[in-house]
Amino acid sequence: MKRIRNFSIIAHIDHGKSTLSDRLIQTAHIVADRDFKDQILDNMDIERERGITIKSQTVCLPYVAADGQAYTLNLIDTPGHVDFSYEVSRALASCEGALLLIDASQGVEAQTLANLMLAMEHDLEIIPVINKIDLPSADIERVKQQIKEDLGLDPEGALLVSAKEGTGIAEAMEAIVHRLPPPKGDADAPLQALIFDSHYDPFRGTIVHFRVFQGAIKPGDRIRFLSNGYTYKVEEVGLFQIVRKPQRAIAAGEVGYLIAGIKTVSDTRCGDTITLHANPCPQPLPGFREAQPVVFASIYPVAADTYEELTVALEKLKLNDASLIYEKDTSAALGFGYRCGFLGLLHLDVVQERLEREYDQSIILTVPSVGYKLILNDGEEMMIDNPVLYPDPTTIQQSLEPYIRASIIVPDRYMGAVMKLALDRRGINKNYQYLTSNRLEMIFELPLSEVIYDFYDRLKTVTQGYGSFDYEIIEYRPGKLAKLDILINGERVDALSQLVHEDRAYSRARVACDKLAEEIPRQQFKIAIQGTIGGKIIARSTVNAFRKDVTAKCYGGDITRKRKLLEKQKKGKKRMKMVGKVMLPQSAFLAVLKSD
Ligand code: GTP
Repeated sequence: MKRIRNFSIIAHIDHGKSTLSDRLIQTAHIVADRDFKDQILDNMDIERERGITIKSQTVCLPYVAADGQAYTLNLIDTPGHVDFSYEVSRALASCEGALLLIDASQGVEAQTLANLMLAMEHDLEIIPVINKIDLPSADIERVKQQIKEDLGLDPEGALLVSAKEGTGIAEAMEAIVHRLPPPKGDADAPLQALIFDSHYDPFRGTIVHFRVFQGAIKPGDRIRFLSNGYTYKVEEVGLFQIVRKPQRAIAAGEVGYLIAGIKTVSDTRCGDTITLHANPCPQPLPGFREAQPVVFASIYPVAADTYEELTVALEKLKLNDASLIYEKDTSAALGFGYRCGFLGLLHLDVVQERLEREYDQSIILTVPSVGYKLILNDGEEMMIDNPVLYPDPTTIQQSLEPYIRASIIVPDRYMGAVMKLALDRRGINKNYQYLTSNRLEMIFELPLSEVIYDFYDRLKTVTQGYGSFDYEIIEYRPGKLAKLDILINGERVDALSQLVHEDRAYSRARVACDKLAEEIPRQQFKIAIQGTIGGKIIARSTVNAFRKDVTAKCYGGDITRKRKLLEKQKKGKKRMKMVGKVMLPQSAFLAVLKSD
């Protein structure tokens, strides 16, 4: 155990975590160089395209240090987005140390700080690493000063690295060995292991990723998950070295995987404790909680006859994504579909994209909503995330909405712009502090409903890309809630309804009507769009009729151009849904949430 090091790399998005991971893997020679694909750890297509880590992966690196001793370095990868911070916290709980990666030209950002806080909560030993020192804009002295002043760490111990060029990698390996502590634990005690991730393999079922704190686990053992009491017989245990390497046992201090005929990943819960059925540990490891969806939306197939296909696609997706929850839903306008809960908007985006790309589904996604708490006149409490289920308003005594605590880090010249943005979103400024002479951390409390759609995009715009943002949900607070309905040609389209704050009702209705008028293509007849609350019309707009002959534009001859236009039209139609006589494009459902 003395020769094991369990560590993570924590960083703000784009500071180079994947690139550094790849370098460390390359140094350990577990993959032949010619097989080396960039960013081995990010193996989902969508992750690759977006360049952010969504599912974490672990890798076990053999390493012979300068002192001639052989070590095992377990690199536990963490997801790189605020939506997945619980998963990050479980991964960190499996480590003794962390490399805190900071981009030499960008410096410390909101997520650097947030991740450092998480790492400190787990008492991890931290090695600051300044990456991208090859960049002409690298300012090592400035970053060292931030490490000292913003993070309270010793800048002298910071490693200087260029993950891209391979500079400083050998030093990083040595630092992991000599500056991070080995794990502790008793291999003979009753088994106590932490699940920090799991993924689905079509041939073997769920592969559980875990860290053993006490005891050992081997094939043939009957194990039990403490949160749900499920028991399984272990078929295989092993290490990840990009591919799975079966082992005879995984003991205290080690990190590995197990296969035990577990059908879906939803039966394994991130943060749960694994023990032996016959000889259980006295208590679970601390910190377990169920994944909580925070954003909800319904998914409908564009063509009603593909509902069965959608059902199968969701089931398959769910096998691999324990945090996705869904249940049947019906809409008068859109027919049969599913109400889904997501960890955040990025998670929603990823699910939508995977359904379309991996499962070839054409879907309509309704307006995303947060979950509200209602206290009814008879004292009963109900949670509601679906406008369709909103009760008669006269039966509601009070409505409460979720609030977040947001940390925004910006150069101070953007202070005014950020303040305006946050206050416009009903934010309350709780605090601000200078991290350095010109960088500011601003703390706001904001209703979650005001940030879910485009807050982050707006922040990036008003700060010209310099603002960074991190948040956590804090509590439910009273808020005046109303249900905004949209009528199209006099017919209420339930899938366009949204729950809004009363003070926002008029502006939301206005925006929704205007946006819809932009998004809905002109048709042979005039289309009236109305926003109503409790039957009262508060906004309206119109899409005028016209005879649609797009090819008329192509005066005469050019047949290829004509064909292209028709192709384009056909593609556009794929994500259209007939509502009554009116054709609604997918974009309409999201557009109603946009603020400008
Ligand atoms: P997430 O997965 O979103 O957390 O991003 P990441 O932190 O893994 O960042 P990634 O490794 O994908 O790197 C982001 C960008 O920085 C990529 O374009 C890399 O090529 C680049 N990059 C990483 N390390 C270096 C470096 O040392 N020097 C330079 N110049 N660029 C680097």
